[in-house]
Formats: sequence, structure tokens, C-alpha cells
Amino acid sequence: MFARKDIIEILKDESKNEWLFSLADKIRKDNVGDEIHLRGLIEFSNICKCSCKYCGLRSPNKEVSRYRILKDELLEYAKNAVKMGYKTLVLQSGEDEFYTQEKMVEIIKEIKKLDVALTLSIGERSYEDYQAFKEAGADRYLIRIETTDRQLYKNMHPNMDFNNRVRCLKDLRKLGYEVGTGCLVGLPNQTIESLADDILFFKEINADMVGIGPFISNPQTPLKNYPNGNFELSLKVMALTRIMLPDINIPATTAMETLNPNGRIIALQSGANVVMPNVTTTEYRAKYKIYPNKICITENPDKCRNCIEAKIKSIGRTISTGYGFSHPKQ
Ligand code: 5AD
Ligand code: FES
Repeated sequence: MFARKDIIEILKDESKNEWLFSLADKIRKDNVGDEIHLRGLIEFSNICKCSCKYCGLRSPNKEVSRYRILKDELLEYAKNAVKMGYKTLVLQSGEDEFYTQEKMVEIIKEIKKLDVALTLSIGERSYEDYQAFKEAGADRYLIRIETTDRQLYKNMHPNMDFNNRVRCLKDLRKLGYEVGTGCLVGLPNQTIESLADDILFFKEINADMVGIGPFISNPQTPLKNYPNGNFELSLKVMALTRIMLPDINIPATTAMETLNPNGRIIALQSGANVVMPNVTTTEYRAKYKIYPNKICITENPDKCRNCIEAKIKSIGRTISTGYGFSHPKQ
């Protein structure tokens, strides 16, 4: 365990990188073992009412062709993913009000008939919505805090409220979800100190899952002239998160692989234990363009499953056949 000042020092000192990555890898092995959990990701709508400055799906961006996958088609993707062996499905979308509480409840109930753990990642909703989704069978919820620096949060998220984001995380926790959060690394004007605070925040809210990825500059957003985040620094934030929260689930994120062709495998050897391959087909993948050069946009679900399985086996790790709930030792 590190204190805030240690975290800051480690983040600033590049000579400690290799030591940090091996320590995180060991702590991962001791606490969650060599199994990797694969989560089948269904990006079911790229319509979003928000205007996050970094995100290509922001509503003012007129250059994306928008889509919604409706229930029946969504269920086809879900069934196909289950056939491929996925034990967890993740439903992710922009903040799309078309998917009312009622519509989501119907979808959740149908998916839960497939004997899978279900994660939602559909943004800020009311307590009542979260409660209805939980009662319908949702097991987990992902909502990144993005940054705990309140001023930066305000600059990055027009018309959004940091306190409401925290309220969402607390509501989800109260309702008994496994709660996933995370942050971006390399946002314009983000400080090392605030990244240390992000890690301490994950600990404070007792997160079950933490996803960390570098900021990738998107030419269709107001941040187009800012540089990408740094791969190594995001890896360090991830490794420190593993050390501070030893038994949680940590994904090797797609954004990491976008900046480094071997990014997910490097992440899996520096503290991560989860990968979230896409299980939709190519007609939608390219349109879910949060940032440019996203991986696998011309692949199909089988290809990704086989590709990632081979990579995982090549580093001596195994694929979990369980649902992959967090805190395996508790
Ligand atoms: N670069 C990297 N990650 C991004 N996200 C959104 N926009 C970008 C970007 N330009 C991340 C956010 C969000 C997740 C779904 O994608 O952290 O929570
Ligand atoms: Fe999609 Fe490798 S994970 S091709």
C-alpha cells in the first residue's frame, strides 16, 4: 500500500517503471490468479445527449453516423456471444434516452435468460432506473469518474455535475451492484497529483472494477489539437491501482492497444486480468468511434475471440470459465 506522496513520486519517476509493472503483476497473480475473464462487449447505441469534450460520440459531432441496435438484434448478438463461450456480457451505449427504464428492463430480462452475468454501461441515470435494472437482473455497472479533479471535470464535461456522477456510483453501490469506474490519463491540463487522487478515489469508493485508458485525441472534438495521453503513464496508473486494490477486476483497455500494438498483453502483464472483446459485427464497430484508430473495427466476433484467446495462451495465462465476479478470495 502506498500513501499519496508515494504514488505521486512513483508516477513522476520513470526509473521505477519496470519495478512497478512486475510488482503489480505479482500482486495480480497472488490475488486473482492467472485466469483472464473475457467480457463480450455490445456497443448497442452511439447516440448520446452529452458533450464530453474528448469523446467522438458527443452530441454536437455531426460527422458520426448514428445507430441504435433494437432488442431483437441485440439478443442475437448476445446469444452468439454466449455460444462463443462468454460468461459476461457488457451492454454499452451513449447516454441515449430512447432506452427508457421500461425498454432496458425488457432487454435485461431477456439477456438474463441466457445464463450470463450482465454489466451495464449506459451512463448517469436515476436511482429508480438503477433499481429497476438491478431488479431485472443486472449484476454490474460501469461508470468512470473520468477525473477527480473537479475543475478539470467541469472543463471536460459541459452541463454535467461531478456530484451527480459520484451520486450514481453511491446509488449503484447501495443497490448491490458490482461497481466499475475508472479514469482517463493524459487529458489536457491533468496533473500527476490528480491521477494519484483518482487512484485514492477508487479505493475510497471500494470499486470492484477499474478501467484506465489513455486519452486519445479525436479530430472531431474540441480537443483535436491536444496530444494523446502517454501509454506508459496510463500503464503506471493501472499498475498502481492493482497494488492499491489487489483483488479487483482490471481490464486491459482497448485504448491501450490503440496506442501500442501489444498494449493489451502488456497491460495483462502489468496488473490487468480482464479483456472486453467486441461481439458486434463490422457494420456497427466503425461507427462507435469514441476516438480514432480503434482496434478491430473490421473484424468479426469470432476473429476477436480467437485472436485474444491465442494471445492470452501465448503468455501462459488461461481463460476463465466462470462468471468472473470480483474479490475471489472473500
Ligand atoms: N480517448 C480515450 N478514451 C475515451 N473515452 C471517451 N473518449 C475517449 C478518448 N478520446 C472513454 C471514457 C469513457 C469510455 C467509454 O471511453 O473514459 O468512459
Ligand atoms: Fe479483435 Fe484481436 S481482438 S482481432
